[in-house]
Amino acid sequence: MRVIILEDTDDVAHVGASFFLQQLELKPASVFGLATGSSPVALYDCLINAHRNDGVSFSRATTFNLDEYYGIASDHIQSYRHFMQVNLFNHIDVVPSATHVPDGMAEDPITACLRYEESIAEQGGIDVQLLGIGRNGHIGFNEPSSSLASRTRIKTLTKETIEDNARFFSKDEVQPTLSLTMGIGTIMEAKKVVLIATGRAKAKAIKDSIEGPVSASCPASMLQLHRDAVIVLDSEAASDLDNQAFYQFVEEQRQKLEAA
Ligand code: F6R
Repeated sequence: MRVIILEDTDDVAHVGASFFLQQLELKPASVFGLATGSSPVALYDCLINAHRNDGVSFSRATTFNLDEYYGIASDHIQSYRHFMQVNLFNHIDVVPSATHVPDGMAEDPITACLRYEESIAEQGGIDVQLLGIGRNGHIGFNEPSSSLASRTRIKTLTKETIEDNARFFSKDEVQPTLSLTMGIGTIMEAKKVVLIATGRAKAKAIKDSIEGPVSASCPASMLQLHRDAVIVLDSEAASDLDNQAFYQFVEEQRQKLEAA
C-alpha cells in the first residue's frame, strides 16, 4: 500500500487526479472506475481543467461507476448518473456511450449486475479505480460484513450511510435504502486503485483500513491485499495513523529515486 499524506484537500484532489492523467497519457483508451460523493468533486474539477486548459482528451476512455441507488431513475436529480453528468461527463469529451453507471431502475437487477461485470471484462478490466471511503470503512456501497470476494450486486445500505447521505435529499424526497454496487472482488481486480479521503470524520476508517486487520468489518481493509493501492489523504484523515512518519519517509525516498 502506498500512503500519501498531504497538507490539505486541494493537494489530495491534484495528486489523486495526477494518477488518472498519467494513466491517460500512457494509454488514451484507458478504462476508469469512478466514484460519487463529496470526495471526488475537486478531483473531477482537476480533470475538467486538464481537458479545458491542457488539451487532455478522454475521447477514447471508458468509465464504469462504482454504484447507483436502486429504485432511482438515471434522470433523477439524486441519481449517481446525474451526479456524474453534472460533475464530470458534461465537461469533458468522453463519449456518452462509453460511460457506464449501474441502472437503478433495472427490471431484473440480478441480470443487470451480471451484465455490468461482463461489460467491465469486455473492456479488458479497469485500469485505475477511484474510491472514496465511508465513515464505516465502506468502499462503493460494500457495507461492513460485505463479502471480501463480492461481485456487483444489490446491497442494503447501513443506517449510518443513509444518515450520511441524507444531506443530499430534501425532506419530501424518499431516500433509497438499497443500491447496486460493484463488489469488493470487482474492485480488487482493478489494475490500480486510488482511494482519497479528507477530513477528521474519515480518520478512524482510514486507520482501520491501513493499520487494522483485513476484515469484512472494514471493507476498505481488503485493499491491503491489492498489489497497487494508493491511499491519498489530507492531514486530518491521516490523523489517527500510528505510522504517519514512516509513510512520509517512504514518499521522500520515492521522490529521491524518481529525481535520480
Ligand atoms: C460513492 C461511493 C461511496 C463514497 C463514500 C464516501 O460512489 O462509492 O463509497 O465514496 O460514501 O462518500 P463522501 O465522499 O461523500 O464522503
